[in-house]
Amino acid sequence: MKDNVVIRPETEKDYRAVEELTREAFWNVYKPGADEHYFVHEMRAHPDFIPELAFVLELDGRIVGNIMYTKAWLEDENGRRKEIVSCGPLCVDPAFQRHKLGKVLIEHSFAAARKMGYDVNVNFGNPGNYMSRGFVSCKRKNVCAFGWGNYPTALLVAELVPGALDGTPWMFIPSTAADCCEDAAAVEAFDAFFPPKEKAWAPSQEEFYIYSHSSVVR
Ligand SMILES: CC(C)(COP(=O)(O)OP(=O)(O)OC[C@H]1O[C@@H](n2cnc3c(N)ncnc32)[C@H](O)[C@@H]1OP(=O)(O)O)[C@@H](O)C(=O)NCCC(=O)NCCS
Repeated sequence: MKDNVVIRPETEKDYRAVEELTREAFWNVYKPGADEHYFVHEMRAHPDFIPELAFVLELDGRIVGNIMYTKAWLEDENGRRKEIVSCGPLCVDPAFQRHKLGKVLIEHSFAAARKMGYDVNVNFGNPGNYMSRGFVSCKRKNVCAFGWGNYPTALLVAELVPGALDGTPWMFIPSTAADCCEDAAAVEAFDAFFPPKEKAWAPSQEEFYIYSHSSVVR
C-alpha cells in the first residue's frame, strides 16, 4: 500500500464525509439518484451493523473510500444458522476509482473480519467489481437465496478461510438493515440535506437490472 494511503476505522466525525462520498459514488449507478447514503446513515444504528468493520480510506489525508459490514446468516435445511458477514456499501470516490483502492479496502476488512472469527462473506453485488478479489458465484458454494435451488447472479461468496463452505446447501439470510431504503419518502427527505443533484439514466442501471433479476441455472 502506498505511503499516502491510510485505512482506519470510521469514527463519528467521519459520518457526514462518508455519506457524501457514498452519495457521489453511487449516484445514478444503480438507479436514477441513489439511496446508499441513507442506508449508510441508518445502518449504523441497526443491531446487525458491525462497527469494528467500518473502515475509511484516506488518500493524502482526505477520505476517498469506505467499506461497511452487517451480520448475515447462512441457514441449512434443518434451520441451523451460521453467522457470517456481508460487505456493503463499498465505494471509492469516482475521481480515484480503478486504482486498486477498492481492492485494498476489501483485503483490509477481510483480514479484520477473519481476526474476529468470521470465515465467510456473502453479499449481492455487481460481479465485475468482485471476481478478481476471491469472490465466486454463490452456485459454486451451494448458497441459495429467495428459495432452495435458486442461485441469484448477483449473489457472491468469498471464503475468508479457504474451505469454510464444504458444499452443504445453505440459504442466505441477509440483515434487514437495508430495508430502510424501501421507504422512498424517507430517502428523499434525507437526500434533501445534500446539495441538489440531477437524477439521470445510465447504462449501468440496466446492467444492474439484469444481474439483480437473474439466476445461475447451469
Ligand atoms: C466498486 C468500487 C468500490 C471499486 O473500487 P475501485 O478502487 O475502483 O476498484 P479497483 O481499482 O480495486 O478494481 C476493482 C475491479 O474492478 C474491475 N475493473 C478495473 N478497472 C475497470 C474498468 N476500467 N472497467 C471495468 N471494470 C474494471 C476489475 O475487476 C478490478 O479488479 P482488477 O483490475 O484487479 O482485476 C468503485 O468502483 C465504486 O465505488 N463504484 C461505485 C459504487 C459501487 O458500485 N460499489 C460496489 C457496490 S456492488
